Amino acid sequence: MTIASTKEAPTSNLALDLVRVTEAAALASARWLGRGDKEGGDKAAVDAMRLSFNSLNINGVVIIGEGEKDEAPMLYNGEKIGTGSGPALDIAVDPVEGTNLLAYGRPNAICVVGAAPAGTMYNPGPSFYMRKLVVPAAAQSVVDLDAPVAETLRKVAKALGKDVNDLVVFVLDKPRHQRLIQSIREVGARIQLHSDGDVGGALMAVDPRSEVDMMMGTGGTPEGVLAACAIKGMGGQIFARLDPQSYVEKEAIQNAGIDIRDTLTVDSLVKTDEVFFAATGISGGTFLRGVQYSGNGAITHSVVIRGKTGSLRYMEAHHNWSRLMKISAVDYD
Ligand code: FBP
Repeated sequence: MTIASTKEAPTSNLALDLVRVTEAAALASARWLGRGDKEGGDKAAVDAMRLSFNSLNINGVVIIGEGEKDEAPMLYNGEKIGTGSGPALDIAVDPVEGTNLLAYGRPNAICVVGAAPAGTMYNPGPSFYMRKLVVPAAAQSVVDLDAPVAETLRKVAKALGKDVNDLVVFVLDKPRHQRLIQSIREVGARIQLHSDGDVGGALMAVDPRSEVDMMMGTGGTPEGVLAACAIKGMGGQIFARLDPQSYVEKEAIQNAGIDIRDTLTVDSLVKTDEVFFAATGISGGTFLRGVQYSGNGAITHSVVIRGKTGSLRYMEAHHNWSRLMKISAVDYD
């Protein structure tokens, strides 16, 4: 169906506004590349993102943010953002996804934002960690979070028309994944081990252009919701289950009345197709190129995704300092 054949006029794509927020955060935080200061890089991104958000005509509430108010001065969970005059939205942010990647100048640090109508985003509550299995659309009906690793890999390989030893699995390089890594190696599949950054990993898993075929393992719960915002538009599936890494975390989840055994999917993490996602590269990597400063400007690379239409745009933006009002780091257009 083409736009011309529908009766509906095209509606606005909020992600095209959100990308200015992620660009601002990337431009500010990329100055901290490799400086060994993860708080400095994160703060630069948060400040820029917050300022930029407040120019948007939205009535947003941060659902996925920098943590609770007492530990995060800005973009904390529950904070209201935007001018307050537009649509009521749940907002998910990760000003620097991969704070260590940025601090040590490693690839794939990105700025990420998601937005969806109020009440539609999964609220992680006290949950920090979630087990995730992310696969492209062609494999989504053949996998099961509870199946043995070997069986899952063989089924995904078959669904993608590959041999199992052609597969590349994105896994976070963490001690908790020792057995998972061993099981993947035993089957003969290949692995990309990354120290951080499983939002990027999830996006690579569903992106047919990437060499990653799927993602497995436990990462952050907020990152799972952000990944779901993008997967809604990109296609594919995330199967997830809360996976507390301490007794305290487990007890807090149970006290909040959340059933730890529930299997979550893209549709339970974001209960609408009216979802928007934007990400901008900070340090550069296989997924998005990083910020390139040029003396009188900078180039950024972003991806902009709309869930309802499945539209996905890769954007290269050229920012020219000399044409900007230099009121702040984020005054650009
Ligand atoms: P930060 O940007 O907050 O440092 O998160 C990076 C990250 O690697 C996420 O991509 C991932 O979901 C999470 O941390 C994993 O947590 P941990 O490093 O505690 O295993």
